[in-house]
Amino acid sequence: MAVARTRCVAILGVTGHVIEVEADISNGLPGMHLIGLLDTALNEARDRVRSAVINSRYGWPDSRITVSLFPASLPKRGSQFDLAIAVSLMGAAGAVPIERVAEPFFLGELGLDGRLRPVRGILPAVAAAVEAGARRVVVPAANAAEAALVPGVTVIPARDLRELVEWLRHGDLDRPPTWGAEPAGPGAAAPAGPGGSGVPEGAAGSVGPARPAGPDEGGPLPDLRDVAGQPMARKALEVCAAGGHNLWMLGPPGTGKTMLAERLPTLLPPLPLDHALEVTAIHSIAGALPAGRPLLTRAPFVSPHHTATVAAVVGGGSSAPRPGAVSLAHRGVLFMDEAPEFATTVLDSLRQPLESGTVTVSRAAGTVTFPARFMLVLAANPCPCAQASEPASACRCTPTARRRYMARLSGPLLDRIDVKVTVARSSRRELLADRRFAEPSEVVAERVLLARERAAKRLSATPWRANSELPTGALHGDLRPPPAAMKPLTACLDSGSLSARGLDRVLRVAWTLTDLSGKDHPEVTETSAALAMWLGAGL
Ligand SMILES: Nc1ncnc2c1ncn2[C@@H]1O[C@H](COP(=O)(O)OP(=O)(O)OP(=O)(O)O)[C@@H](O)[C@H]1O
Ligand SMILES: [Mg+2]
Ligand SMILES: [Zn+2]
Repeated sequence: MAVARTRCVAILGVTGHVIEVEADISNGLPGMHLIGLLDTALNEARDRVRSAVINSRYGWPDSRITVSLFPASLPKRGSQFDLAIAVSLMGAAGAVPIERVAEPFFLGELGLDGRLRPVRGILPAVAAAVEAGARRVVVPAANAAEAALVPGVTVIPARDLRELVEWLRHGDLDRPPTWGAEPAGPGAAAPAGPGGSGVPEGAAGSVGPARPAGPDEGGPLPDLRDVAGQPMARKALEVCAAGGHNLWMLGPPGTGKTMLAERLPTLLPPLPLDHALEVTAIHSIAGALPAGRPLLTRAPFVSPHHTATVAAVVGGGSSAPRPGAVSLAHRGVLFMDEAPEFATTVLDSLRQPLESGTVTVSRAAGTVTFPARFMLVLAANPCPCAQASEPASACRCTPTARRRYMARLSGPLLDRIDVKVTVARSSRRELLADRRFAEPSEVVAERVLLARERAAKRLSATPWRANSELPTGALHGDLRPPPAAMKPLTACLDSGSLSARGLDRVLRVAWTLTDLSGKDHPEVTETSAALAMWLGAGL
């Protein structure tokens, strides 16, 4: 008997790392020794693999089995190594030819009966395999559509260990198996062709039936047409959508703040392919990919409840760190409704991602960094009793109580909000007006797209696409508005009402207003409007 080798992938953060798996069967006390896995994962993998092999009606070697996963230094958590462990030890036992298990990558968790269960993070895992030169990847059938998003590789969907082993023994490795006529499982795509499948076919072909409405899902979306009046808030939404800016809405209950925020995704263009793959990889690692929709093409909209913990918002978990709400909202919208109700630790934890577009999570198992470039939308009532703060309202809160409530949103956090807007109650006339004449999302989205294209064109020689991504160096270099346009800002800097960070935020919004108006560079109209939005006139 010889040593059998194969490969699989471990996910760290959002990156896949190739893992070499080696199995050896030697004389000695019968038993299975797994080297290179962390404690609990090790015992679980051993038990699953053993049961799966025996229940697939193969003999279990009655000698000393050693399976080693390299590099040992890389933390390996999760169950996606089961399949590679099983096929390598069957190779070492002579049950399958070792040269046939050596070339493909094997990813998947084994059920005790030998069935292959889907695993998280297939997209980044297959991408890492392809980068390492893989030509074939064996994945659980339920993950096949997601795996097929990666071009240049043949995806072999497998349903159970026995079927796979028989194919490895006798099948044609250049022709992925079809496993009979019935579909391979929910969300499974047809096996990719030998040359690997391109993204659009694999993705479009496997989009499932429409699910219940939800902004990041396939169902119908809400529309800005439903919102009566609110011209200021509508404008603020449009500007934020066009530049990717952060928004704060302050207003009494029932004025449409939640309604407006939920309509922001309808103004955003579909994700370009590279962003769609990034977003899909994160949702896959979090186990949050909707079934039957392997590629997320819409900007995500994530709305954590105000009782959410820091771990749920920034990421964490007791074993392998998982992406939190800020990363699930990557390239989309993070909406924090009733913002002052969130724990201040949660609100403060947003500062790092808002500044850097990434979030670093430290756990005993190591430190990982997840992408987290999102638009933050905060909504708040002006006082804790959530009673309207208008004359004749039931609010009995003291000015101190109100101030304390608002102070929960710290200065440094509000400093990072580009656009602040007061949402007042719509008038009776506005509410009763014929809503068929209200501007629908589609029309606003066209203006947003045009403005985004202008920005992308101006920034084509740079790594940035949206104005919100502009670093301070660029804002004060080539992109500094002419002196006349800077005048309103210098006055505020002198009086101390504008901070250095605020200045950069105002400049970014000024560029977005410029793109929306079709001008070449910001004039005093744009800089003063951007300044008013940052200061939050009326707040
Ligand atoms: N401007 C508006 N146009 C149309 N309907 C509105 C408007 N404002 C409020 N409504 C109606 O009131 C309901 C409540 O609005 P929404 O939940 O968005 O208010 P809110 O400002 O988020 O309130 P709260 O502070 O209590 O969360 C909406 O579902 C809608 O039916
Ligand atoms: Mg609300
Ligand atoms: Zn009150």
